[in-house]
Amino acid sequence: MIDSIKNRRSIRKFREQPVEDVKLNEILEAARLAPSGNNKQPWHFIVIKDQGMKRQVAEATNNQMWIATAPVVIVAVADMLARSEDYAGLHVDEETGNFDVKRIVRDTTIAVTHILLEVDNQGLGACWCGAFAQKSIRPVLGIPVDKFVLAVIPIGYPASQPQARERKALEEIVRYERW
Ligand SMILES: Cc1cc2nc3c(=O)[nH]c(=O)nc-3n(C[C@H](O)[C@H](O)[C@H](O)COP(=O)(O)O)c2cc1C
Repeated sequence: MIDSIKNRRSIRKFREQPVEDVKLNEILEAARLAPSGNNKQPWHFIVIKDQGMKRQVAEATNNQMWIATAPVVIVAVADMLARSEDYAGLHVDEETGNFDVKRIVRDTTIAVTHILLEVDNQGLGACWCGAFAQKSIRPVLGIPVDKFVLAVIPIGYPASQPQARERKALEEIVRYERW
């Protein structure tokens, strides 16, 4: 098995040491190479190093201010316009600005998984943060309404080594031949 699948943990404490650009580029490259339905690649990634911007993103992400302690934050954005069939007939929640996305989210999720695994492969740590309202986070980063913010991913050298979180046993989740 790929080591990072076993070793990766959500990291929420970071050392101050910056992330080298060569490592950051490998992480972004891992996202770029992800598979997607019809090879649509409906994703964009915003790389944030500015402390003020990181703080605003952390505030918009349910006030999880530890996010701003990471040297770099990547925000993964799914592009509604890459799949116009998903864009038609959207129901947008008035309060949060959230809406039903489906395929662009499915595809961008794969790219974010690649990011998490490559982060670990580079000796770094990260955490997928998904607790935000579209209406809170989009304006902070100037993201247009036809884009769906999927994940905020703080990245840095880990300052803690959390225990593995429990996972369901294979017997609980695997069936053979039929349901
Ligand atoms: C879609 C998604 C959203 C998440 N959102 C948050 C979040 O907002 N804040 C946080 O601290 N962790 C968040 N996590 C991390 C999970 O809590 C974590 O992956 C899970 O507990 C398993 O632990 P592990 O990643 O260390 O294996 C999120 C994970 C996923 C996949």
